[in-house]
Amino acid sequence: MMTKPAATSFPVSNNVSKMQPSSTLAAMQAAEALRAAGVNVVDFGAGEPDFDTPDNIKQAAIEAMRAGQTKYTPTAGTRQLQQAIIDFYAREFGVEYERSQVMGTSGGKQAVFNAVVSLINPGDEVLMAKPYWVTFPEIVVFAGGTPVFIETEETGFLLNADQIEQAITPRTRLIILNSPSNPSGRVIPTAEFKRIMELLTERGIYVISDECYLRFVYPPAQVFSAASLPMELRSRLCIAGSFSKTYAMTGWRMGYTLAPREWTQAMLKVQSHSTSNPNSIAQRAAAEAFNGHKSQWPQCWLSTQPDADGCSMR
Ligand SMILES: Cc1ncc(COP(=O)(O)O)c(C=O)c1O
Repeated sequence: MMTKPAATSFPVSNNVSKMQPSSTLAAMQAAEALRAAGVNVVDFGAGEPDFDTPDNIKQAAIEAMRAGQTKYTPTAGTRQLQQAIIDFYAREFGVEYERSQVMGTSGGKQAVFNAVVSLINPGDEVLMAKPYWVTFPEIVVFAGGTPVFIETEETGFLLNADQIEQAITPRTRLIILNSPSNPSGRVIPTAEFKRIMELLTERGIYVISDECYLRFVYPPAQVFSAASLPMELRSRLCIAGSFSKTYAMTGWRMGYTLAPREWTQAMLKVQSHSTSNPNSIAQRAAAEAFNGHKSQWPQCWLSTQPDADGCSMR
């Protein structure tokens, strides 16, 4: 007769036991469960656009499947995707990136993950403004770093260079900027962003600029990417971008990074041993999102005031 093995608790690794589960995803699952039970719920947990993925993007994915683009791709993504990202930044921000500085990722979340774990060592301090997106400190903790929070309540939740300067210590290795910010929605004015980057460059501190909400600005604020700063302010900058929110593609899981070549090479190592490459079909769809014609898009999203015209995030 077989004896039952004694019940043991799973020996979670030290790195993972220090992490908290994603509270936004937990809220989303709780809302799903309520919905399944017949309750009418509006879920503000995960940032979900309230319109569907535009049809030209869906069509591109269908064509990709029909054409057999269903296989592994290079770790950094297809040439087509890399070129679409390069062309988008050239067109929108007048900046030239090379293929060796661009990689596709499985969502903006993986972009931030790759960037943090390829840089941070135990004992390194990573600055971030409060309030922050829940995932930032968890990735830092996973990498063995120490999140250091900068209070911004006094300045109406708007991070500035003086606050950063006060928070810098000899151990500061990285700062994560997020403008427009989740959750505050605040947009760092362009002149202040430049001051921040001048300070960080002078101090040799690396920067992740999470630009997931790039287009979510309302007048008088303007769309701004750190990519448009002069080259000398970008030598330690990694832009983490996402197709999720702007193109209503949250489920497709597509993001990207723009970073110096050496940082990109380190991130490619991480990605090559985790997800290998972003989904091949979603890559084709993302290239269409950046380069495709926008005539089929919801009118509200093409307006200068999308929120006023009815496009919004839940
Ligand atoms: C600030 C911020 N960055 C990155 C992401 C990642 O988005 P995704 O992984 O869907 O591209 C999110 C998602 O909510 C976010 O709020």
